[in-house]
Amino acid sequence: MQEKTSITNISDNKETVRGYDLSELIKNKSFVETIFLVLKGNLPNANEARMLNALFTAAIDHGIGTASTIASRTAASAGNSMQAALAAGILAMDKSHGGATENAAKFFVENMGEKNIAELVKSLKEQKIRLPGFGHRVLTHDYRSDTLFSIAKETGFYGQHCALAEEVGVELNKISSKPLPLNVDGAMAAILLDMGFPWQMATGFFIIARVPGLVAHICEEKFGDVGM
Ligand SMILES: CC(C)(COP(=O)(O)OP(=O)(O)OC[C@H]1O[C@@H](n2cnc3c(N)ncnc32)[C@H](O)[C@@H]1OP(=O)(O)O)[C@@H](O)C(=O)NCCC(=O)NCCS
Repeated sequence: MQEKTSITNISDNKETVRGYDLSELIKNKSFVETIFLVLKGNLPNANEARMLNALFTAAIDHGIGTASTIASRTAASAGNSMQAALAAGILAMDKSHGGATENAAKFFVENMGEKNIAELVKSLKEQKIRLPGFGHRVLTHDYRSDTLFSIAKETGFYGQHCALAEEVGVELNKISSKPLPLNVDGAMAAILLDMGFPWQMATGFFIIARVPGLVAHICEEKFGDVGM
């Protein structure tokens, strides 16, 4: 079978990722820098690496009450393997959790040129459409978004998508029956767009960030003295 990829090449017992010798990457680059390389095609500068690191850290875990954690722990408690329990958690992500990252990014891209955000938000609310990237089951204010936006400002990645996300949040909260904070999915979506990533990749970033948290929950469920 003839396979072609521009990502990784293996020949003569050597491997290159996006043209870089993997041995050199192992020696000299962090995991986050190499994730940026494999996803974007070039190595990040210091600001890009710092921002991406912050995004991953912000979403690493969110307690025992999220859909993916519950699914992973339930699968683990039944004796499933690490890979099955992890897959269960990832499959539990969709529009209310995790998948909201991609949906929010798509929403920001589609509405970037919108002049009347107040009218747009009002119209969606009247249609009972939930705006992806806003709201939280427990938090009335998502401090993770504040921290990420402050780093985005420091690193130069607070751009038009971040500004739009905040504007939508202001208008949404004017007409909402309860506080609907810009959540970590929404902040991550806006920042990834301002970093130049396409909206279609956004949930992939959330999954990369959350997998370590899920692995920890699976291990606690399987080997710890707490569990279901
Ligand atoms: C996260 C989420 C599931 C939490 O829901 P919840 O706090 O249990 O909210 P409820 O289902 O009790 O809804 C309460 C009210 O807020 C509204 N609401 C909740 N999230 C909303 C959103 N994102 N956009 C617009 N309205 C929203 C509901 O329509 C409801 O309105 P009503 O009182 O007029 O009927 C919800 O906010 C949501 O679907 N958000 C969008 C998806 C998302 O960003 N997920 C990532 C979460 S970190």
